[in-house]
Amino acid sequence: MAAKIAESISFLFIFLLCSFQLAVSSNEPQLSFTDWCKLHSKSYRTITEAKERESVYKSNADLVQQLNNEYRERNVTFSLNHFADLSIEEFKKLVLMSPQKPQPLPKQRYHSFSLPQDPPNTFDWRDKHVVTSVKNQGSAGTCWAFSTVGNVEGQWALGGHNLTSLSTEQLVDCDDTYDHNNLHMDCGVFGGWPYLAYEYIKNEGGIEREEDYPYCSGQGTCFPCVPSGWNKTRCGPPPLYCNDTFSCTHKLDKSKFVQGLSIKSWIAIQKDEVEMQAALIKQGPLSVLINALLLQFYRSGVWDPILKCNPQELDHAVLLVGYGTEKGLLEDKPYWLIKNSWGIKWGMDGYFKMIRGKGKCGVDQQVTSAVLQ
Ligand SMILES: *[C@@H]1O[C@H](CO)[C@@H](O)[C@H](O)[C@H]1NC(C)=O
Ligand SMILES: *[C@@H]1O[C@H](CO)[C@@H](O)[C@H](O)[C@H]1NC(C)=O
Ligand SMILES: *[C@@H]1O[C@H](CO)[C@@H](O)[C@H](O)[C@H]1NC(C)=O
Ligand SMILES: *[C@@H]1O[C@H](CO)[C@@H](O)[C@H](O)[C@H]1NC(C)=O
Repeated sequence: MAAKIAESISFLFIFLLCSFQLAVSSNEPQLSFTDWCKLHSKSYRTITEAKERESVYKSNADLVQQLNNEYRERNVTFSLNHFADLSIEEFKKLVLMSPQKPQPLPKQRYHSFSLPQDPPNTFDWRDKHVVTSVKNQGSAGTCWAFSTVGNVEGQWALGGHNLTSLSTEQLVDCDDTYDHNNLHMDCGVFGGWPYLAYEYIKNEGGIEREEDYPYCSGQGTCFPCVPSGWNKTRCGPPPLYCNDTFSCTHKLDKSKFVQGLSIKSWIAIQKDEVEMQAALIKQGPLSVLINALLLQFYRSGVWDPILKCNPQELDHAVLLVGYGTEKGLLEDKPYWLIKNSWGIKWGMDGYFKMIRGKGKCGVDQQVTSAVLQ
């Protein structure tokens, strides 16, 4: 009780501090730090922290303004969203995965797809009700789990079952699949690979529903222990504190696996965006990895970075759900429609459009899908 009161007092205090500092930055056209704090229900533990965050917020405000100017002609906009109190470096550390070079997957995994005779000009799996709501990974490098379940949810629904959100936390807590050939490993909040997560679900025998094994890692509401096979060399030291109550051993309940859902195999799609388009139509929503350069503040438009977006440095996993072409003033812009896991306040209701046909940001490098029984 005392702790609760202390907590609310300190919350009030920081909140006031936020309000007090409003005056300083009120001449800016963008939201003041205080209003931004209110809008995103942000509070900080200490005054020092609040001040630090305000200074990060201010330099991000400059950056966002600069980006909006630079990209105006390209019709791409940026905003001071809920990530605006994280520097680009902090965002990389907390939310993105450490950049990985794409590796060719085993040859027999690659399947060829060809376009139907008259492919539709625009396509969106959401219209077919095989895409669940947008989730929020919070401050954890767990995108790989969201990208994986996004694909499996699609496969399950396309098999004629009810659309069901599946447990990402199960993957984060339990999956320690290791690929000895590529030295890839699934490392919970420190990143992982969708193709390894398919292997995990296959070997474990299934996956629970989101509602039965809810996500908590990036929300600060649990302190899970790392999976048993954690390899320090690959994953780095495990988090300093963990509470066994939140571990896989304690939480996983195989009797709650979605009945009938099991992974038979998984496939990869060639590094070819026409094949990707064909695979998307024929197979369903696809897991892809990208270089998430500057996406932190993305708001709308077809993302086609001016800066080099190295396709050999993949640090984020997302879900391809559609494509189309945006009519521009100078040229048409073909795009991929992609579901992210940064909440609905990010981008276009949680989604973004990525330029299609240029291999930008490595979007064509690691495209995979599970195949269900
Ligand atoms: C699927 O959803 C419908 C409608 O919500 C429900 O009536 C039905 O029981 C569900 N089926 C399964 C297998 O869960
Ligand atoms: C952990 O990873 C290192 C480096 O990839 C590897 O050499 C070692 O065999 C791994 N350990 C185990 C127990 O798998
Ligand atoms: C672990 O978490 C549980 C549930 O929140 C709590 O009751 C328990 O005291 C915690 N144990 C430790 C050692 O922190
Ligand atoms: C600019 O982007 C918005 C959001 O993606 C889109 O609705 C609009 O059609 C685009 N306008 C032009 C001229 O490209």
